[in-house]
Amino acid sequence: MAASADTTTTTTSCTLSGRIALVTGGGGGIGCACCQVLAREGARLVVTDINLQAAKHTVALLPGGQQHVALAMDVTDRRSVEDAMKSAQDKCGAPPSLLVNCAGVLVFASILETDDDSWQKVIDINLTGIFLVTQAFATSLLENGKDSKGAIVNIASIAGKTGHPLTSAYSASKGGVISLTKTCATELASKAIRVNCVLPGVIDTPMIAIASEEMTESNMRLIPLGRLGRPEEVAEVVAFLLSERSSYMVGACVEVTGGYGM
Ligand SMILES: NC(=O)c1ccc[n+]([C@@H]2O[C@H](COP(=O)([O-])OP(=O)(O)OC[C@H]3O[C@@H](n4cnc5c(N)ncnc54)[C@H](O)[C@@H]3O)[C@@H](O)[C@H]2O)c1
Repeated sequence: MAASADTTTTTTSCTLSGRIALVTGGGGGIGCACCQVLAREGARLVVTDINLQAAKHTVALLPGGQQHVALAMDVTDRRSVEDAMKSAQDKCGAPPSLLVNCAGVLVFASILETDDDSWQKVIDINLTGIFLVTQAFATSLLENGKDSKGAIVNIASIAGKTGHPLTSAYSASKGGVISLTKTCATELASKAIRVNCVLPGVIDTPMIAIASEEMTESNMRLIPLGRLGRPEEVAEVVAFLLSERSSYMVGACVEVTGGYGM
């Protein structure tokens, strides 16, 4: 019998050298870790956040600091998003070809107590923000990118799959992120832009500091690994999904949860 074709000869690189990566919420726990891992992999970072000081702090932590850029961007504001995308291109000489949609907020309230304003705020930042940033990113890449091959990773949440008590707006927004990911993935794959998402479990960042001790303890009992996740454990998966090592992954939802919610 003839030897089968060797399918292992194609080499894929883990490096993101020469790529420009824009991260939203880059001043926060998971966003900052993503920037650090992507910079380690050779990417030039455009670190954006509604909190410019936090974005600058992240840039200060990155290897090769001078090539990276910190920009203010409010993901809920189309003008702010489009201005930041244009600044990124002007400062870097080309549009970003990698995007991490990481900005987010969490509000704890029961469905009976969730008021209109907090519902709308969570949906605006967590879901509409991804719509606005993805649209601006893809438009600028397809219009101006010499090599328009791109990749997007959306940070959803395991709560978007399982639901979670006291997080109706948050869980609904993250469920929306999962379906938005899959829809964008189907539309953009033919334009050489892969879209995937990550579903973190409970990760040790400022976001979960608002949880009560009781809430954290009851979450811990549901995590088979028996500990909180670290931001860099999410960031490593994000870097993989942005790299060519995941070249056949489109519309995937990768759980990074220590086994919680599987
Ligand atoms: N920490 C967790 O347990 C956990 C679990 C699942 C998913 N996530 C998701 O991971 C992402 C990052 O969360 P984190 O834990 O690092 O939280 P974090 O609070 O440390 O970071 C969130 C960042 O988003 C920024 N932000 C808020 N509103 C913004 C806006 N309108 N425009 C731009 N930036 C804005 C904040 O300034 C902050 O820097 C979020 O989408 C969150 O929902 C976190």
